Amino acid sequence: MTNGDSSLRQHRGDTITSSRNTRLHTLITRLQILLLGILLGALPGLYVGIPSSTDIADTQQTHPELDCDHNHALQLDTASSSSSAGSQQEQESTVKTKHPDWCPTAQCTDTDLCHPCQRRFLIVIATPRSASTTLTWMLDELPGIRMAGENNNMLTFIFNANKAVFNHSSFHRGNEERTSWGHNHIPNQTFACAAQAMIQAINPPELLLTTDRIHLADKLQEQSTIVGFKTIRFERGVDGKPQTEQEWLEKVEFVKENFPCSRILVNINSNVTRQSESFKAAKWGTISENSLRNRMLKLKRIAELFGPERAYLLDSAEWTKNVEILNAAVSWLGFDRACHFRELLQFNTAGAKGFTHSKTKLDYHSPRCKRLE
Ligand SMILES: *[C@@H]1O[C@H](CO)[C@@H](O)[C@H](O)[C@H]1NC(C)=O
Ligand SMILES: *[C@@H]1O[C@H](CO)[C@@H](O)[C@H](O)[C@H]1NC(C)=O
Ligand SMILES: *[C@@H]1O[C@H](CO)[C@@H](O)[C@H](O)[C@H]1NC(C)=O
Repeated sequence: MTNGDSSLRQHRGDTITSSRNTRLHTLITRLQILLLGILLGALPGLYVGIPSSTDIADTQQTHPELDCDHNHALQLDTASSSSSAGSQQEQESTVKTKHPDWCPTAQCTDTDLCHPCQRRFLIVIATPRSASTTLTWMLDELPGIRMAGENNNMLTFIFNANKAVFNHSSFHRGNEERTSWGHNHIPNQTFACAAQAMIQAINPPELLLTTDRIHLADKLQEQSTIVGFKTIRFERGVDGKPQTEQEWLEKVEFVKENFPCSRILVNINSNVTRQSESFKAAKWGTISENSLRNRMLKLKRIAELFGPERAYLLDSAEWTKNVEILNAAVSWLGFDRACHFRELLQFNTAGAKGFTHSKTKLDYHSPRCKRLE
């Protein structure tokens, strides 16, 4: 046998194995669903039919949101499996964002593992007692935006988790090795989907509960929903202690890489006298105006680090007196004038008994105010 023959055989062998693997995979998927069907069917009052292959395709699209649009990855999978050519460089090259309005400068490394720019995010970074809860729930009123409140500095936990692995020299040396720290090559921005899934898991859409399942009201709409949250802890570590400028800088870079299609609203309260009074009223103890001023300057610096393409600075000492100042931010996000607010909500205001909510529902929503698609 010549060398040519054996390499041909080798090549054919690969092709056969891989197509056999695909068939085997499909078979296993069907068997799993069949087994699940039988198990569920055994429960009283439930009937689950044997799925056809189109049903299987549908199941793959069932949860595109929380696992960072894996359904899209699966579709690409089948498309690209026939032509597995293309160097790693090619596969990893960054592509233009799908959302040029929301994140025009985003770097997106699209692979079969992750499409980091598919989901848009809105992050409110604020100082404490700066009307950030009010701002959060007002943004939530905008169509296609789902905000959530504080999450105990989840972003920093995710940052630390990433760093523990990717900043470890043994892990680096384990790249494409079968050693104690070994693993396959991890394309840039693959971690983004895990990071985004963490944030999405703690800010899910409202679910409908029908007789046999819990599901989304509108799956398609959910895919294009902008997910957001607010944090008054961005410039702090998970221990609550202030971090250095170098540390924020790393975190800012982390957000750009792992939440590439995000906008940042930085919210401060420039009237530190009032802010300090608000601390007292909320029974958070006394805090000096100087230390509040210091925190405000840090947040202004963080806004600069994100840059004007991504970040917008809001001062609650101004926008709580004049809603048009908030509306300028609404326009900056890309919304039409029809979405401008006519009045303010009031959440988490400090009253004599600590925290109170005053106005929690807007009186007016323009029917001409549309989601950002
Ligand atoms: C991946 O990221 C590293 C570090 O940011 C960068 O140096 C490299 O060029 C990137 N690779 C590709 C293919 O984009
Ligand atoms: C870890 O981080 C430090 C500081 O940012 C950097 O100097 C070093 O090169 C990193 N090490 C690895 C293995 O990524
Ligand atoms: C700041 O707040 C204080 C106390 O609430 C108020 O008396 C003062 O007028 C405010 N300053 C400005 C410039 O609005």
